Amino acid sequence: MNERESLDGRLAAVGAPAVLVTNPAPERNRVSPRQTGPRLEEELFPTGLSPEALARWASESDFFDQMAEKQRPQPLDALTLERYRAPRRPWFNKEFRFRLMGELSGRRVLDVGCGDGSNALLMARFGARVTGIDISPRSIELCKHRARLDGVEDSTHFICSPLETADLLEGSFDVIWGDGVLHHLIPELEGVMRKLVSYAKPGGLLVFSEPVCLSPLMRKLRKHIPIHTDATPNERPLERTELDIIQRHLPGLELRWFSFLSRMDRLFLRDHNFERASKPRKLAADVLGCTDRALLALPGLQRLGGMCVMYGRLPGQD
Ligand SMILES: C[S@@+](CC[C@H](N)C(=O)[O-])C[C@H]1O[C@@H](n2cnc3c(N)ncnc32)[C@H](O)[C@@H]1O
Repeated sequence: MNERESLDGRLAAVGAPAVLVTNPAPERNRVSPRQTGPRLEEELFPTGLSPEALARWASESDFFDQMAEKQRPQPLDALTLERYRAPRRPWFNKEFRFRLMGELSGRRVLDVGCGDGSNALLMARFGARVTGIDISPRSIELCKHRARLDGVEDSTHFICSPLETADLLEGSFDVIWGDGVLHHLIPELEGVMRKLVSYAKPGGLLVFSEPVCLSPLMRKLRKHIPIHTDATPNERPLERTELDIIQRHLPGLELRWFSFLSRMDRLFLRDHNFERASKPRKLAADVLGCTDRALLALPGLQRLGGMCVMYGRLPGQD
């Protein structure tokens, strides 16, 4: 059974018609509330999941399946491994997070919305035992393939499932890591956060990096400026209400802001690849990153940051 069939099976178990994930035409995937009266809805969604959730899963898995199909699987670059094994530049978002996690050897990590597995594989190469979960069957196949190429198939485990219906062992992970996934789950954020916190061990670290927009003006501008992005119809940057939900589940949540001026690095870093860039290009990226770090630490200016790292630990055992 491939990942697609296996996901269809799991969706069927929670009442979702398989056509919702197998049919690539988004319009036909959609089940509008008007089509399903209360009785039918109860039959289709015995777990209380809404038709909107099922339509969202269908479009997300199709979109990210297509992204995964375009990839040519390769082992991780030696320079990428070197960069994140000993992260020296915390003004870059991902280096900051790898520094935060510290020593990974022997630790159990859950990568939620693991996508093509780049982060999960890095962590596994640093000695962690990693579980990755994602709704896209092709992405999960890609992760498994890449794990073999990187020689970490024994320390990685990839699951194809919507996070909303995942059923993992409570209190079993040292780190819960999410990179750009929570803003795809906004309508279910409350329940998803409850689950994620329950999966962490006492004293466990939860760390998420998400696009956030706290400025109503920026939100208005965003609607009117036609910038091309690879975005699904279900996503938008998180707003204050969603930060409050995350904070409620993780008291003591800390926020670190990134991506104001450094958004411009796309103009000179090909494919966002810092490791393989020339020295002057690296220097330019460093200058933007350091300037952002200074500016976005100032309380009034934080709303200029486009990305936010949100992190916190659960209370320990004692
Ligand atoms: C923006 S991508 C990020 C992928 C990866 N974390 C990375 O940093 O490259 C968002 C990922 O979330 C996954 N996703 C979206 N909705 C999901 C859901 N309900 N349950 C599990 N995964 C989901 C998508 O398939 C996609 O791989």
